[in-house]
Amino acid sequence: MKKFINVTKNVALVLAASLTTTVSAYDMTDGRVKSDVNWENVPVVQKTLFFPGMITFDWINSPAHKGTTKPSFETKTCSNCHQGEEEGLGNLLIKNDRLDKVAGKPGSIAAEFQFANDSEYLYVKGTWETESPFPGRMHDMIILEDGKWTIIGGDKGKNPYTPIYEDRFSLMIDDGSVDQFAQQGCWMSCHRGERDIGQATKRDVSALPVIGKDGLGKNDIRKYLPDTRTERYGLNWDKLKTQKEIDQLKADGKFVDLMQWRSARSAPTGAADDGYVLEYRLNDSGKTVFTWNFDKKKGVPKYMFDKSVTGFYALDEADFTDLSKSIALIEGVNTMPYDASKIKDGQYLQGRINREGGGSASDNNEIASSWTDGKYTVIFKRKLDTGSPEDDKIMKVGGTYDFNIAIHDGMATTRYHFVTLPFTVGIGENSEGSVLSTTVK
Ligand code: HEC
Repeated sequence: MKKFINVTKNVALVLAASLTTTVSAYDMTDGRVKSDVNWENVPVVQKTLFFPGMITFDWINSPAHKGTTKPSFETKTCSNCHQGEEEGLGNLLIKNDRLDKVAGKPGSIAAEFQFANDSEYLYVKGTWETESPFPGRMHDMIILEDGKWTIIGGDKGKNPYTPIYEDRFSLMIDDGSVDQFAQQGCWMSCHRGERDIGQATKRDVSALPVIGKDGLGKNDIRKYLPDTRTERYGLNWDKLKTQKEIDQLKADGKFVDLMQWRSARSAPTGAADDGYVLEYRLNDSGKTVFTWNFDKKKGVPKYMFDKSVTGFYALDEADFTDLSKSIALIEGVNTMPYDASKIKDGQYLQGRINREGGGSASDNNEIASSWTDGKYTVIFKRKLDTGSPEDDKIMKVGGTYDFNIAIHDGMATTRYHFVTLPFTVGIGENSEGSVLSTTVK
């Protein structure tokens, strides 16, 4: 079904070409969200994010990792031993990895962050120079060819030659509930068997209790925390605790919060998704901010653009990099039901649709983001207390929280991202942390 390499049209050439219009500042939200935080007096925190390769939780805690031979390794954070080594680790880990030669992926990127808060919200601003010469406005694009719709593109890991995929900026947060998260951060959620790390087969995953066909209905392994497995170390993706035990972990707050700004699947509506990691990477309860615009059974899109709003029913290749044109498909804003007679062969539609979410899954709905001269700027705005302690980490002024930031850049997914080492953020000046947020307003 998914066509990766044989994109019949010259999508890759179009994407590689310079932008068809000169736009120096492109608002990813199409004017929907403006941040009103004054960042002038908020210190800039520079961090190098590095490619983590195949380094898993299991490896970190095995004798193969020399750190484990040091006295009281368990009580030390990655930064205790690796502060300032991010670039070197990234260069080491990208070498001979899949995207090293073929796509020239760098081992690390430099990013700037600012942390601010008022009595109600935490604001995290992130800025980084992106690998692609255009903002990531597309994800699963579909093309009509000889009367048939096909999904094209895909992420760079699987399709280094003609990828089409969004970029991402993700925050993982804990409040001290998850044993070892303060020390080992996002590596707690990274295990062999997951997608692109010695991936478990669909058949084996489907047969599992709790996450397989009799449980969540999944057929792959995504992020999970070791507490949800009966064995903490080793190859343990299939060693699930019982549903009852996992429900208890969730009730005890032993999950980590994971929020992802997605350049195509959430940015256009000013959103970031809202999920958490426990036995799997899961969405918070409620309605998610994006979904498929493709009826896989019938092989046709659900919606197309409403011409009376956008001036067009479908997209042409030239629109991909035409920043004067909004190309996001937003349910109820610029959509109309799919009508085959209105679309020409060779035209495209977004395979995903943005929409207004609901409930705890839509907490992050005022995220400002832009792409200016090759740099992304994303401003996360997150309620300190979302009112949903069952799937969010509740923060408060004066508290200290464990953070890990990831950036998926250059149309990559899964482990082909860049990550910080875990660090602590104190909310407000009267808190403790390696970074203190500045009280504004
Ligand atoms: C107590 C100190 C210590 C801690 C804590 C520690 N490490 Fe290490 N780490 C080491 C030492 C020592 C080496 C070996 C360095 C060398 O051979 O030059 C190493 C090597 C590595 C390497 C290189 C792997 C390779 O292929 O050679 C990576 C990646 C790494 N550590 C990641 C981490 C991460 C991520 C964390 C936190 C989850 C962490 N380390 C925590 C001490 C530590």
